[in-house]
Amino acid sequence: MKNLKLLAAGLAFCMGIQGLAGCGEEEDAGSRRTQVGIACYDRNDIYISELLDCIEEEMGLLEEESFQASVTVRDGAGSQKIQNDQVEELLGAGCDILCINLVDRADPSEIIDLAREKDVPIIFFNREPVTEDMGQWEKLYYVGADARQSGILQGKLAAAAIKENPQIDRNKDGKIQYVVLEGEPGHQDAIIRTENAVETLRSEGVELEKLSYGIANWNRAQAENRMLQMIGQYQNQIELVLANNDAMALGGLDAYRKLNRTESGLPVFFGIDGTREGLEAIQEEKMAGTVYNDKEGQAKAIAKLAKALATGDGWSEIEFEQGNYIYLPYREITLDNVEDYIKAE
Ligand code: GAL
Ligand code: CA
Repeated sequence: MKNLKLLAAGLAFCMGIQGLAGCGEEEDAGSRRTQVGIACYDRNDIYISELLDCIEEEMGLLEEESFQASVTVRDGAGSQKIQNDQVEELLGAGCDILCINLVDRADPSEIIDLAREKDVPIIFFNREPVTEDMGQWEKLYYVGADARQSGILQGKLAAAAIKENPQIDRNKDGKIQYVVLEGEPGHQDAIIRTENAVETLRSEGVELEKLSYGIANWNRAQAENRMLQMIGQYQNQIELVLANNDAMALGGLDAYRKLNRTESGLPVFFGIDGTREGLEAIQEEKMAGTVYNDKEGQAKAIAKLAKALATGDGWSEIEFEQGNYIYLPYREITLDNVEDYIKAE
């Protein structure tokens, strides 16, 4: 398995380099493919890896005479320094458009400078640069979703479940004792999601008591550890788990499984993303709800924008907010509609 993976990685690498090295010759023939360089923050992140698959697929679907793309993907493996070097390499190899999922969303300056030098536009995605940085140059775009909305929808889902199922308040004290599994500090989708979920629950009339929180950086294994610590401290007092993403909600569930806790002793779990595993957990009623982070929609927007940048066509079909931002809406998922999403996969 490991060898196979290595072989696949090697092949992908060679194909990428070949595609880039070959672009000069193709240009002479007059049918030059657009070289799209994608740099992601960490391909081990489950949602990011699913999103990248969608982007590659959408770029392929757009293929027509006026736009043929060769896509090269680089994985920054959690280091901004590595990502900067990868961008330099992509630009050196003749890439025409960059799609960047920053490692450090507050540190895009080096990448912007490198791209501007070669007049290569950048589509940032998923990790939103701060407004000031987006204003550094006119060829910077962002494709993502509104963090606030995902928090509000998660709060609504949780409020509805609590009203429908009084047994969620296991100790019958009229309050919901909850914990939060949080994503990376500083990420637009961590603290904003938490604040809006909690505020929405309150405005829906749910009385809350926060027991604790654990930072788990979007990661399932880290979330399992944080959850084990919180269960150690609060035993069976935890009634609700709000997780900033599905991977961490599943990690929280792993902790209870490890301790062999029975169904009746479990809190209700809510996630965000609607990853393949997240959707399965909803279907199996292990997770009560999630919020769909529309990877297909975001991928489609990135591909359309790349095409418009490369060919000059299709600008009128693209809806921008604040000039150069594209936000795709989040959607609620529960047992009632999960099948639609599983079918769509
Ligand atoms: C969020 C997503 C998380 C994680 C993060 C990475 O939008 O919900 O699961 O992938 O992006 O930046
Ligand atoms: Ca209670």
